[in-house]
Amino acid sequence: MTLALADPAEAARLLRAGRLVAFPTETVYGLGADAANSRAVAAIFDAKGRPHFNPLICHYPDAAAAFAHVVANQLARRLAEAFWPGPLTLVLPRRVTCPVALLAGAGLDSLAVRVPAHSLALAVLRAVGRPVAAPSANRSGRISPTTAAHVHQELDGRIDAVLDGGPCAVGLESTVLDLCGAGPVLLRPGGALAEAIEAIAGPVGRPITPARAKAARTLRSPGLLVSHYAPTLPVRLDAAKSDLGEALLAFGPLPGPPGDAAAAVFQLSAGGDLVEAAARLFAGLRQLDEDGLRLGLRGIAAMPIPTHGLGLAIRDRLERAAAPRG
Ligand code: TXA
Ligand code: MG
Repeated sequence: MTLALADPAEAARLLRAGRLVAFPTETVYGLGADAANSRAVAAIFDAKGRPHFNPLICHYPDAAAAFAHVVANQLARRLAEAFWPGPLTLVLPRRVTCPVALLAGAGLDSLAVRVPAHSLALAVLRAVGRPVAAPSANRSGRISPTTAAHVHQELDGRIDAVLDGGPCAVGLESTVLDLCGAGPVLLRPGGALAEAIEAIAGPVGRPITPARAKAARTLRSPGLLVSHYAPTLPVRLDAAKSDLGEALLAFGPLPGPPGDAAAAVFQLSAGGDLVEAAARLFAGLRQLDEDGLRLGLRGIAAMPIPTHGLGLAIRDRLERAAAPRG
């Protein structure tokens, strides 16, 4: 039985008791557990059906709380100042005194930390008083949830509660930046723009695209699976229009009057606004998947997305959605 909650204090009480509670952030809904409680952390992997123990991001109410658990250099402090609360995750060396369960960090000597920009999330984190480990609140490999209803669809009966904070404003996960090495490396493009990070950090290592990750065969970040965010239907990228039997994920002006096959059209942003498109992406994939299956369509055609600003993160998620499965 999964409770629907509106009160962050109740969510915090359950988290302190070792329960699993999904909560809203500005990016996507997270599936939270007390990061210092290894049983609770293990339950996250179980509920999601995560095949590997990918490291989880730990969430904090402020930078001081985060930096009590990791070693922050000057650059980390400058970035935290500029981006927190907000959609930037920093990977930093764990302190020896860090109480976060090793499983949460998948046994690595680094830890990913972030301060989300969402009033309910911050209220929960303040009330819990412990780091909260939270991956996106979806079944492993599926589309990240951006509403409480999505979380219920994914995880009802498998988790204790969902705190409803309405739709997520950003709609894409945080940018993950690794600061453990000689220079910063962008492990996952996301809500914080690479251009804005580079304005502070100087040039950052290039994002790992699915193609590069595949070529390298080893993944720097174990969570960066090539196939991810996958709807049930196959996804075709950079499609000028939908072919017969395909749903259409549109961006900008529609290619023409939809034929019978294009009965399922989801417009990310009619005006070509990447911020609007990011916020609607996961809901759109979910919608087209449902419509497509209902209408007996064979796939989803995704129109081209520009390669600047949030377009980088949107394209990354679409490439993973389109990647060969398994
Ligand atoms: O926006 C977000 O980041 C959301 C919300 C809930 O905060 N969370 C999220 O978590 O997207 P998840 O588990 O779906 O993605 C975490 C990513 C994975 O790609 C994982 O491999 C990487 O962060 N990561 C976590 N800890 C890491 C570490 N120590 N070193 C390298 N990568 C790490
Ligand atoms: Mg995820």
